[in-house]
Amino acid sequence: MDRIKITGGARLQGSIPISGAKNAALPLMIASLLTDDRLTLKNVPNLADVNLLARILRNHGVDLAVDGKRAGGTAHLGETFHLTARDISDTTAPYELVSRMRASFWVLGPLVARMGQAKVSLPGGCAIGTRPVDLHLQGLKKLGAEIEIDAGYVIARAPKGLTGGHVIFPMVSVGATHNVLLAATLAKGETVIENAAREPEIGDVANCLVKMGAEIDGIGTSTLRVQGKSRLEGAVHAVLPDRIETGTFAFAVAATGGDVVLQGTRRDLLSTALETLALTGASVTDTEDGLRIVRNGAGLAPVSVETQPFPGFPTDLQAQLMALMARAEGSSVIRETIFENRFMHVQELARLGADIKLHGDTATIHGVKALRGAPVMATDLRASVSLVIAGLMAEGETTINRVYHLDRGFERLEEKLSRCGAQIERLSAG
Ligand code: UD1
Repeated sequence: MDRIKITGGARLQGSIPISGAKNAALPLMIASLLTDDRLTLKNVPNLADVNLLARILRNHGVDLAVDGKRAGGTAHLGETFHLTARDISDTTAPYELVSRMRASFWVLGPLVARMGQAKVSLPGGCAIGTRPVDLHLQGLKKLGAEIEIDAGYVIARAPKGLTGGHVIFPMVSVGATHNVLLAATLAKGETVIENAAREPEIGDVANCLVKMGAEIDGIGTSTLRVQGKSRLEGAVHAVLPDRIETGTFAFAVAATGGDVVLQGTRRDLLSTALETLALTGASVTDTEDGLRIVRNGAGLAPVSVETQPFPGFPTDLQAQLMALMARAEGSSVIRETIFENRFMHVQELARLGADIKLHGDTATIHGVKALRGAPVMATDLRASVSLVIAGLMAEGETTINRVYHLDRGFERLEEKLSRCGAQIERLSAG
């Protein structure tokens, strides 16, 4: 298994191209199941999760062709995927594939909407709490799907097609919103989704669905109104920039007292996180092609946050903020309200000398004068990148084991950081 070695203390300086958002690319790829025409997606990041979903879609019969980057092209414009689901040959998504990535469960809605049936394994993914799928199933039932659970699989049937319905989610779920929105585009009549997630990736998917001929009102709000169509068409769509990658690098720059332009990204995708970062003493300014993050000399001020659905502070940046706060001049409090078991990075950060106390869903971080490098273990996607941030701040050498977690969601992380002066390298296992 690969490891990452970091020698801390270097100041990040230069520019980092921001990739397309993993959390938008995945549901956009899944949207290809809704039409027999070609869906072209630009700016797709090259990530393990994207490649795994490509395998799952191929298994359903989706034809996928990939154009690489053009010579001399802009560094942050990723790959172009052409997806054509002309004939869906298999409506089963097997355990071996779905158990490795939770988002693959989202094929359920589109498959039952288009094919009248689907059999999808209950999901796996990052081990951050129980993460049930009850909201997905409740929503699809409202659209007329008959749902049965058998031997670890969800079997959904709608032999005469789905019909529009009124879905009121009792809590905000990104995945359930995607699943029901995708399905509703092919349901007969109107679907109203209330308390929908408002994450920018949902808006990106909705905008792509509109290009495919769907009729959706309320994009960007918590009430989505969908007029179902009997068929959707092909479209060309560029994946929006990754706000979690943006936030992660922004925090890394602040952590090292650096000065970096994050290219190809936008402030509105993560205003709350950037406001939080500004409170620590870093400056965030808009540039022609992105955002410039600077922290000069001054110490890090402690900030306290609680994670919330968008537009609140994202749970996917919680671990990274905690790494930063480990060196703050004072104490900060971080409350995790989205996932119940998302503190696995705490004990690893402690190995580097961080002083963090956990009480239920709340972590109190007492800033220390210095972190010291040590071997640590990546436990999930976002936790592992918080260890990278901590390693960049720490004195001496940090080795991160199990970096396959990082490869699921961060494209060319070592390369992007080392170009800005970080001393970071991948030690290949084989
Ligand atoms: C998505 C993101 C993930 C992010 C999360 C929250 C992708 C690929 N993943 O995950 O990076 O951390 O949103 O912003 O976009 N829940 C239920 N029942 C359900 C569904 C969810 O109780 O049927 C709960 C979950 O356990 C969790 C909360 O709702 O406590 C939010 O989960 P959800 O928004 O669904 O997260 P994901 O879509 O899995």
